[in-house]
Parts: sequence; C-alpha cells; structure tokens
Amino acid sequence: MSETSPAAAGGWPEPVVRVQALSESGATTIPARYVRPETERPLISSESSTDAGDDDEITNNIPVVDMSSAAAATAVAEACREWGFFQAVNHGVSPELLRRARGVWREFFHQPMEVKQMYANAPATYEGYGSRLGVHKGALLDWGDYYFLHVRPPHLLSPDKWPHLPPHLREATMRYSEEVRRLCERLMTAMAVGLGVGLGEGRLQEAFGGAEGAGVCLRVNYYPRCPQPELTLGLSSHSDPGGLTVLLVDDRVKGLQVRRGGAWVTVDPIPDAFIVNVGDQIQVVTNAAYRSVEHRVVVNAAEERLSMALFYNPKSDLPVAPLPELVSPPERPPLYTAMTFDDYRLYIRRNGPRGKTQVDHLAAKPPSADDDAHHPCRQ
Ligand code: OGA
Ligand code: NI
Repeated sequence: MSETSPAAAGGWPEPVVRVQALSESGATTIPARYVRPETERPLISSESSTDAGDDDEITNNIPVVDMSSAAAATAVAEACREWGFFQAVNHGVSPELLRRARGVWREFFHQPMEVKQMYANAPATYEGYGSRLGVHKGALLDWGDYYFLHVRPPHLLSPDKWPHLPPHLREATMRYSEEVRRLCERLMTAMAVGLGVGLGEGRLQEAFGGAEGAGVCLRVNYYPRCPQPELTLGLSSHSDPGGLTVLLVDDRVKGLQVRRGGAWVTVDPIPDAFIVNVGDQIQVVTNAAYRSVEHRVVVNAAEERLSMALFYNPKSDLPVAPLPELVSPPERPPLYTAMTFDDYRLYIRRNGPRGKTQVDHLAAKPPSADDDAHHPCRQ
C-alpha cells in the first residue's frame, strides 16, 4: 500500500481537499486539478437540454415508467434495453420520506468542517466523508464531495461510519434505504420478466445471491457551487459498477447527463420520481441484453446540488457471469467471464471514474491479466 497511499493522508496518495472548502473560499477560479481537458468539458447552456444535437435519434429526456401500471415490467425492460436509464414514477416511496432523506443529508453537509472531518474516509472501504474516487497521485479531480455507506447485508454495516448528527440522519437513512431496497427487488423482478425469454421472475435476483445476500450501498453526492462550471465536472463520465442504481436527485437543480450516441442528454427530473439506471453487473448477468450507460454530472455557479444514489449489488463474494439461459453459442456466446463484485469494484476504486472501460475490458479478455498490476494497492 505504501507506494500509493502514505498514512499521513489517511490512505490517499496526497492530502485530501474538500471541494466545499474551495467553493466557500470565494476564489473566482478553480485549481488546475479540477480543470478537464477540452474534449471532456461540458457545454453549459441555459436553455437546451442536449449539448451535441447532430444525431437525429436524440430525444430530450429519458423514458418515464409508471411503476403502478400493469405494464410496468414491459416498460422497465424496454427502457433498460433502449436507454439503460429511466425515471420511475408512482414507485410507492412517499414524497415525505424523500424530502426527509434529502433534508438530513443537506444538514449534514452544512455542518462545520470539523464535524464532517470526524468521518473522513479512506480508500480501503470508501465508507465515510470523501472527496475523490481513485488513488492515483496527481489525477484530475471532480468538483464534488460525497458520503458513502454500506447498508446491507447487515454484517457490512459499520455503525461507527454513520454520522451521529444531525440527530435524525440515521433513522431517516435506514428507512429510506429499506424502502428503496424493496423497490429494487421489484425492479429486479420486472427486469427478469421483461426480458421475455421465459426466465422465472426471481432469476436475476438469484444470480445476485438472493434478496438476503444482495448488497446495498448509499452514496450521497454534494456538489458545491463552482466559479468555473464550464471547465470541470461534478462527477466524470462513468457507468455504475454495481447491479442497478436508484438515484434521488435535487428537487431544484439539474446536473445529471446521460450519454446517448455522441451526445449528452441532460435529465429533466420529475419531482419525487427516482432515476433508475442499469449497472455493469446487470449487463454481465443479462449478457448485454441490458447495458449500463455512461453518465456524468455538471455543476453550476449559482446553486449547490445534492443527490442520493442507492446502489443495489450482487452478493459481493459470488462469481457473477451471464445467465446460461441467455447464452447460446455460436449466435450468442457468453460475453463476459465470471468475477465477484468484490474484485470488480477494485477497478473504479483505484482508477476513479473512466467511462465504460471496465465492463468493455472484461468482455475483451479474461480478468486475470490485471491492467493495473502496476498499482499494487489491494484493498
Ligand atoms: C453516482 C452518480 C449522479 C448524480 O453517484 O454514481 O452517477 O446526479 N450520481 O449525482
Ligand atoms: Ni453513477
């Protein structure tokens, strides 16, 4: 570990800088570490919701699925096939709980820095208050802080990593996670049924190690105001490494962009809806019938933004591979070799967000030829 993570920086390769502190310093320019190369910079325009409009296929928003409808499974499957992203409405989680969950976390980030620093995270598990993803010294950084927690299975929940303040944070976060976890179970069923190849409704869940074994993690993202939003990103392009993600976005401020062909589509959130997306593990299990999609976050000068991403993941020590029912060589060979999620997520934890390079890489060659063998930071 010593090469990339001196103990002096809590396991990080260099001292951690809180983006919130940079934002509150009042500086009118951002440090060079946050300036993306020109090709990765967002096009900040106030009106249009796509920033590269030369593709005829582009529509302006991701599909909307009514989870209370009898046709929900079909609609979920179609959205997963066509977009890898959709907004779920009538999902059964009360708007009041959504507001409470967002509220307690907004309060958390608005506490004095000393309070937050007590929960400073380290790259070994990422749990706690963090400001970077990836451990490479000198890497470009994103304009965002976050809080990351393991919620399930119960033996992975570490109470000492959960903030004690504000007072209702723990209870609100548990209730929120529990309800969204149940929604994830319904989504897994809909995704299985909607595949339309006669899979039993519990088949995807089974491939994740059953409802009891599945992992739930929460990442609360806090994107402070940024004096030069046109030069940076709140979160660089990535696909989510896990199974599926249920995202609760800010009720006032846009920022999420989804890659569609060559363009970035800015999601226009429906109040109290969830944004659901396919992660890499669902792509692997379905042998790419459903595909994860790159997304990123843009920030702005006028307002901070808070989002809550709940990641629903396979049991972490279970080898995950394409379901045999979805493989029939020679027309449909297995596109991925088996890998546990524990091993899979080391890539993003070491390298930071890098588009879809990991899952594409898993398809191209066996995982044993580890492409970052020269970064020996085993977590
Ligand atoms: C994530 C993510 C999007 C957002 O946390 O993986 O993609 O809008 N978040 O914050
Ligand atoms: Ni994401």
